[in-house]
Amino acid sequence: MAMNYKKYKPYPKFDFKERTWPQKVTTKAPIWCSVDLRDGNQALPIPMGIEEKLLLYKMLLKIGFKTIEVGFPSASETEFNFLRKLVDEKLIPDDVTIQVLTQAREHLIAKTFAALKGVKNAIVHIYNSTSELQRRVVFNKNKEEIKKIATEGTILVKKFAEEARVLGMNVILEYSPESFTGTEVDYAVEVSNAVLDVWQPTKDNPAIINLPSTVEMSTPNVYADKIEWFCNHVKYREFIQISLHAHNDRGTGIAATELGLLAGADRVEGTLFGNGERTGNTDILSVALNLYSQGIDPELDFYDVEEIKDVFQKVTQLPVHPRHPYVGDLVHTAFSGSHQDAINKGLKYKADNNVDFWEVPYLPIDPSDVGRKYEAVIRINSQSGKGGVAFVLEKEYGFKLPKNMHPEVAKIVQKDTDDKGIELKKEDVLKLFEDNYINVKGVLELIKYKVNEDSSNEDSDAVVTLEGEIKIFGEEKKISGKGNGPVSAFLNAIEVCNIGKYTVTSYDEHAREEGDKSQAITYVQLEDLKTNKRFFGVGISPNITSAPIKAIISAINRSKKS
Ligand code: KIV
Ligand code: ZN
Repeated sequence: MAMNYKKYKPYPKFDFKERTWPQKVTTKAPIWCSVDLRDGNQALPIPMGIEEKLLLYKMLLKIGFKTIEVGFPSASETEFNFLRKLVDEKLIPDDVTIQVLTQAREHLIAKTFAALKGVKNAIVHIYNSTSELQRRVVFNKNKEEIKKIATEGTILVKKFAEEARVLGMNVILEYSPESFTGTEVDYAVEVSNAVLDVWQPTKDNPAIINLPSTVEMSTPNVYADKIEWFCNHVKYREFIQISLHAHNDRGTGIAATELGLLAGADRVEGTLFGNGERTGNTDILSVALNLYSQGIDPELDFYDVEEIKDVFQKVTQLPVHPRHPYVGDLVHTAFSGSHQDAINKGLKYKADNNVDFWEVPYLPIDPSDVGRKYEAVIRINSQSGKGGVAFVLEKEYGFKLPKNMHPEVAKIVQKDTDDKGIELKKEDVLKLFEDNYINVKGVLELIKYKVNEDSSNEDSDAVVTLEGEIKIFGEEKKISGKGNGPVSAFLNAIEVCNIGKYTVTSYDEHAREEGDKSQAITYVQLEDLKTNKRFFGVGISPNITSAPIKAIISAINRSKKS
């Protein structure tokens, strides 16, 4: 093995047998905070300019975020000017709180408050790394020295906040013991408590303690254990919000957030589509739609997800993966035959039985809830089966194929996809169906016909007589026949043509609305009594007598081709 796993050591074990979170259930949405414009932005190869930030900010408002971290105003002119634009152009609704990040240093905090001037509700977010590794390797500071950075920063924020309050700004302190996941949890509590002792949180002067998994280092259950332990030991618990800020280095940022909520956290920081440093931040959209799929109001609206995606992709210049939970281009799509069949049955069951709850196999949420159309659900390639083909023909074109016809139609479609090696469009499926079953040209052609019904003689076998003209093997012929309906009268009439004897083995019909016109569609299966082989034919006509006759002609012509 070329890789050397021996250079890694396991994440330290955290013993916390008293944990209660595994028994809990989430029943309401957390307080959401979008960090797209800060954490998301700082991770972009090409950071957003003011116009891009504004576009995304407006989208975040539209989704329903009430707390938005708009940037790091002391870090660059763009960040500073963006916040000023929001204030000067009155782009901050009264019920929205603006969050800004700053390092805990006096000149940076001063610049941050200057950028905030005029904001009504602000969260000033300070952070310093408390992790064992960074204390040792990056800062070369002991625990007391690191704690002092946090408390001194808080003293400064408190001073600036008191001044700002006089000018009408509500300021909430947020403190992050950065790299919480690399910090001894008792030390994280010690530093946070020291910060809170300075801030003195009350009902009217709350604070937020944000516990970032700056780098995701363990399984999400360990993060949850630490969150619960932290919640149990932090001071002023009733006056502070515990916030989660999970990154996704192990690919479990969403899970860590969900378990962290069970463990007692009140608030979630994250980004749309999980953009953020390295492997990204928690994807808020997935966490919210996971709640939604459990019947919980997520308090964020992702109905316009296509537009959200467009804006996101435009401003970040990052693609959204086609398999992204809930919103990727392919996530409400089934190519596989057995999945298509189950979805088809699930949708039909729901419609037929008027069920209130969403219970469709393979579709955890109703695609239309995120603005998706059902056409995209079932798509046809070589993996598709009978259910999928029948679904497309019914949903798109109104053909309700009889069940016994599904397998052979699917076979024709599957052969075509196999031959071509591509996905078929719905129009291609229709064309294959038409070419193979509807008005199939061949040995028999109908020129004209007339049907007479003797309604006085209902009990007799022959109540319908048919007279007409056909072309058989290119030769025109007059025909006449009798039967108990137009189908049997026609079959009787063509017996003289020496094209063999047929009997009807299945017959289905329904009406199809097309614009303001209604058409009859008939599906007939005939058995050639000489070979005992069966052939379907389909006829469409505005006239309910012509449709079955056309279906018979198609079936006979197909039988002669085989
Ligand atoms: O990931 C992180 O630790 C951060 C902090 C600044 C909160 O983004
Ligand atoms: Zn982060």
